[in-house]
Amino acid sequence: MAMSCALAAAALIFTTAAATATTTAPLPMLPIPTATQLKWQRREVIMFFHFGMNTFTDREWGDGGEDPSLFDPPSLDASQWMTAAAAAGASLAVLVAKHHDGFCLWPSSLTRHSVRASPWRAGRGDVVREFAAAARSAGIDVGIYLSPWDRHDRRYGLEVEYNEYYVSQLRELLTGYGSVSEIWFDGAKGKNAKNMTYHFEEWFQTVRQLQSSINIFSDDGPDLRWVGDENGSAGYTCWSTINRSMITIGQVGIEKYLNLGDPKGTDWVPPECDVSIRQGWFWHKNETAKPLAKLLEIYYNSVGRNCVLLLNVPPNSTGLVDEADIARLREFRAAVDAIFATDLAAGSAATACSVRGEPFAAANVLDGRDDTYWAPKTSKNGYWIELRRPAAMAGEKFNVVRIEEHVALGQRVERHKVFVDGAVVVANGTTVGHKRLHRLAHPVAGETVRVWLATRRGGGAPPLLSAVGLHLDPFAAGMM
Ligand SMILES: *[C@@H]1O[C@H](CO)[C@@H](O)[C@H](O)[C@H]1NC(C)=O
Ligand SMILES: *[C@@H]1O[C@H](CO)[C@@H](O)[C@H](O)[C@H]1NC(C)=O
Ligand SMILES: *[C@@H]1O[C@H](CO)[C@@H](O)[C@H](O)[C@H]1NC(C)=O
Ligand SMILES: *[C@@H]1O[C@H](CO)[C@@H](O)[C@H](O)[C@H]1NC(C)=O
Ligand SMILES: *[C@@H]1O[C@H](CO)[C@@H](O)[C@H](O)[C@H]1NC(C)=O
Ligand SMILES: *[C@@H]1O[C@H](CO)[C@@H](O)[C@H](O)[C@H]1NC(C)=O
Repeated sequence: MAMSCALAAAALIFTTAAATATTTAPLPMLPIPTATQLKWQRREVIMFFHFGMNTFTDREWGDGGEDPSLFDPPSLDASQWMTAAAAAGASLAVLVAKHHDGFCLWPSSLTRHSVRASPWRAGRGDVVREFAAAARSAGIDVGIYLSPWDRHDRRYGLEVEYNEYYVSQLRELLTGYGSVSEIWFDGAKGKNAKNMTYHFEEWFQTVRQLQSSINIFSDDGPDLRWVGDENGSAGYTCWSTINRSMITIGQVGIEKYLNLGDPKGTDWVPPECDVSIRQGWFWHKNETAKPLAKLLEIYYNSVGRNCVLLLNVPPNSTGLVDEADIARLREFRAAVDAIFATDLAAGSAATACSVRGEPFAAANVLDGRDDTYWAPKTSKNGYWIELRRPAAMAGEKFNVVRIEEHVALGQRVERHKVFVDGAVVVANGTTVGHKRLHRLAHPVAGETVRVWLATRRGGGAPPLLSAVGLHLDPFAAGMM
């Protein structure tokens, strides 16, 4: 009796286990992003603030001979800068702490050439401190740019001395201002600059030691890469992967490789698109913000091509972001929100070439979540997923198709096409990545939308899509 009871209990446990066993998730396709890279990717729009000596001298590149007494913004208010960042929907703001002219916006103990020698706040100010405090109270994460090229410091050109100086400055910035989420290194250098070998590996490892959840940006990562241009335009093909060994920071000729990425790349180093809202990086009285249509084009060419957009907004010599620029940022965010607030695929029935198992249903592309996705079974003949819109919706026109890959398990899609009502190809392309946005030449209506996909390595790794959406962009050509 006791024994049969035990057997019954065991059988019950066994049955329960079988009933709840679910289909496993597919293996990742290496390389894959780290947690901090994934967090960065989801930010989509972040903000750059170029401010410093050039703001007062009306230049883009200072020569390092500037008198610190020129730095004197009468009404610097970093919380107003954060209003600009928030207006654009940015969750991270990167400050230029030192540009090529070598003037430091924080009172570095390692040089006299800093805010300490300026009349601003009677020499007791610290822009980095005010920036970090304002960002934190606005719920915005902090990033820092420290120019390697330094035209002021006499140690520049002396390999050991300057590298020691630079690492010591990194230490000041990464230990004195709380958590830093991104650090920016560039390879910019004038033609007549002194010969100087930067010890990037020592710099990067120091950064890693001092900040545990930071992304390091440079031409060559290790976490984020430059996209290869400064106009906010990623490659039409854009892989998050490259071979880091093929890149020398600052080298001419790497732009195309950075712009497109490498489908065979062994390092996950996704691109960030840096571009200014104005013509220059620094504020100049004679320049104004780009029009909305241009900013939207930049958005489609960056965020819509698997990148994060790092949009620069330069505070002026008063120490404030021009209200006209903030108004433009609001207009930009309102436009992006208006385009994507309504998903004209909502309520569709989703079917697919195949489904790996119940947790990976085709309908996962419609649930608005990043962490659920459609996964098909492996096929040699490509893959497809189809949305059948409710009859009442079939006449609702759209001119934007949004496709998102679940890149947490690697970037896979190498080619894709979008069909409406069977035969008509309305969009096609190569990579998808975190987000691919297609703007159609004209709004189209239709009952079914089918996305056909092929993946790298001959299709051996099925595509994993977390979203397919349809939208109407009223700002697109032919709509206004
Ligand atoms: C710069 O320095 C490197 C290594 O110190 C050396 O190999 C190179 O020839 C130098 N270039 C010039 C232009 O002096
Ligand atoms: C962006 O810049 C690259 C190189 O700097 C250039 O080839 C390309 O035409 C530019 N694109 C746009 C849209 O201005
Ligand atoms: C990147 O590295 C992989 C693995 O070594 C290699 O197969 C591929 O050809 C490399 N890419 C380029 C462009 O050389
Ligand atoms: C504005 O003035 C600055 C400094 O004089 C100059 O470098 C820049 O090219 C000018 N911008 C335009 C759009 O003319
Ligand atoms: C800077 O922008 C603020 C805010 O729009 C404005 O009040 C101020 O006059 C501007 N300063 C300059 C020098 O244009
Ligand atoms: C893909 O799109 C391009 C540009 O819109 C077009 O020229 C080409 O014909 C399309 N290819 C297919 C197979 O539809």
